[in-house]
Amino acid sequence: MSDTISNHDVLIIGSGAAGLTAAITLAKTHKVLVMAKGALDSGATGWAQGGIAAVLEPGDTFESHINDTMIAGAGLNDRETVEFVVENAPAAIERLAALGVPFNEGHDDFGDRWHLTREGGHSHRRIVHVDDATGWAVQKALEKAADANPNITLMPDMVAIDLITGKHQVDYSGEGRVWGVYAFNTKTKRVEAFTARATILATGGAGRAYLFSTAPRGATGDGIAMAWRAGCRVSNMEMMQFHPTCLYNLEVKNFLITEAVRGEGGHLVLPPGVPGAGERFMARFDPERMELAPRDVVARAIDHELKRLGLDFVHLDISHQDPEFVKHHFPNIYNRLLPLGIDITKDPIPVVPAQHYTCGGVKIDLHGRTDLPGLYAAGEVSESGLHGANRLASNSLLECFVFGEAAAQDIASQWDSLPAPPPILGWDESRVTDSDEEVIVQHNWKEIRRFMWDYVGIVRTNKRLERAMHRINLLSSEVDEYYGNFRVTPDLIELRNLLEVARLIVRSALKRKESRGLHYTTDYPDTLPVPQDTVLIP
Ligand code: FAD
Ligand code: SIN
Repeated sequence: MSDTISNHDVLIIGSGAAGLTAAITLAKTHKVLVMAKGALDSGATGWAQGGIAAVLEPGDTFESHINDTMIAGAGLNDRETVEFVVENAPAAIERLAALGVPFNEGHDDFGDRWHLTREGGHSHRRIVHVDDATGWAVQKALEKAADANPNITLMPDMVAIDLITGKHQVDYSGEGRVWGVYAFNTKTKRVEAFTARATILATGGAGRAYLFSTAPRGATGDGIAMAWRAGCRVSNMEMMQFHPTCLYNLEVKNFLITEAVRGEGGHLVLPPGVPGAGERFMARFDPERMELAPRDVVARAIDHELKRLGLDFVHLDISHQDPEFVKHHFPNIYNRLLPLGIDITKDPIPVVPAQHYTCGGVKIDLHGRTDLPGLYAAGEVSESGLHGANRLASNSLLECFVFGEAAAQDIASQWDSLPAPPPILGWDESRVTDSDEEVIVQHNWKEIRRFMWDYVGIVRTNKRLERAMHRINLLSSEVDEYYGNFRVTPDLIELRNLLEVARLIVRSALKRKESRGLHYTTDYPDTLPVPQDTVLIP
């Protein structure tokens, strides 16, 4: 038994935009522990490029941002949530500016105070950004504020394993109330228990369930899997977003080319050597919106052209714009691609679609509450109703700020009625030994990511989904046996979660008997008249 049990006011699992926003809000009144799987900045937040959407100039309206969000989401969005997020967006941007995020300043043409860029699906310029590396500036500003706050303890290198509920109480209770989490300390290699009156899951998405993804290594859906195992509903897991333009390069994998490149005039064209070389093929798929159609439309168009012509990539070309303009707007991409022999002021960029964002997740209400008392969720781990069947560009960081704050405020306002945690059991390692065959974990990791890419990708069929489910069932017994017999390691914890989320994705995809937004299946190509969430109940 591990005897390391510590108690805290509030526990936040995740140190990205959602987790740190919640921590900074809560720290006004309570003591907060924030844990992260690796380094504090290793989540998706630091990798965000394009920016944050908000209505910030007189010509734009909340109604327009709401409509754009609902159109991109193919009507599956919850209108109340969309209104809530869109209307709270300007205040969220102000808070970030007050924390010192150096948003690019405006000029005469677009935006007065800040420069506003444009991305697919937005009918206005409404995206504040810090060059083409917005997420890094946001992450560092939030970390600085959290680090300076004596009520916040930051704890990197902790891998949360499972939520602590009534069944882990010393006096067993069948209740689902969440009392905290068991986590593996990667420094001491011991499992510790952390209890709190409230726990917020801010663990990000599950992109690494796919072979090609723009998401960071830690995006293994841990929070979704933990919440599901503890008894929370998850919804819309079939809505996996594929970003149309990930760099195609044999040396540098998974590098995003921001949608703002298309927003600032970049064209998608067929590469040399094929019939129609140089053609702006989006004209055949979405003649009005062209390269700025919502992501699902552009990603499917590229996928179609890759398969039709047997290509490895298509070209994204912004070399017709003034070189200084290109370098000024995209310094990060320019500098990253130059050593690879691609000068984006002169050369087109080879791109392919890659998994990018998990629209589904743990079901929450407008206060960030999950189904289980004591447990909240915010950010990419959650399904709040904002994104529906497809997330509108730059609405994701926004969701983190709005729901991170909402969850924190709800906890603070309920504080006196939140019960203190009872005595709980420590982690029991008496019946496990050290793993003897690490190769099994590595092999299964790779296998999941490969079949999810091949069978549960941009275009789906029942047959492929059933094949994927078959593989998942086979792997489940292997992983369960492994988990039951051996001491946990970070890779094993992630593998177990990856497999859990793969099952949730495939189950959800099999349940949806239509094509809508990101879920496109040749077996049901039509869209049903009434949009309905896919809700899985544990
Ligand atoms: P993350 O920032 O991913 O943080 C997750 C945290 O949880 C990390 O601290 C991690 O260590 C921790 N964690 C995970 N599992 C565990 C565990 N088991 N135990 C302990 N800790 C754990 N969105 C936009 O709105 N605009 C953009 O321009 C944009 N660009 C993007 C570019 C890229 C390349 C990518 C990948 C995404 C982009 N997105 C963008 C999406 C956006 O960045 C993410 O959705 C958002 O940052 C998610 O924030 P989060 O706080 O929910 O999670
Ligand atoms: C991008 O910069 O293209 C990503 C924006 C987003 O994911 O919202």
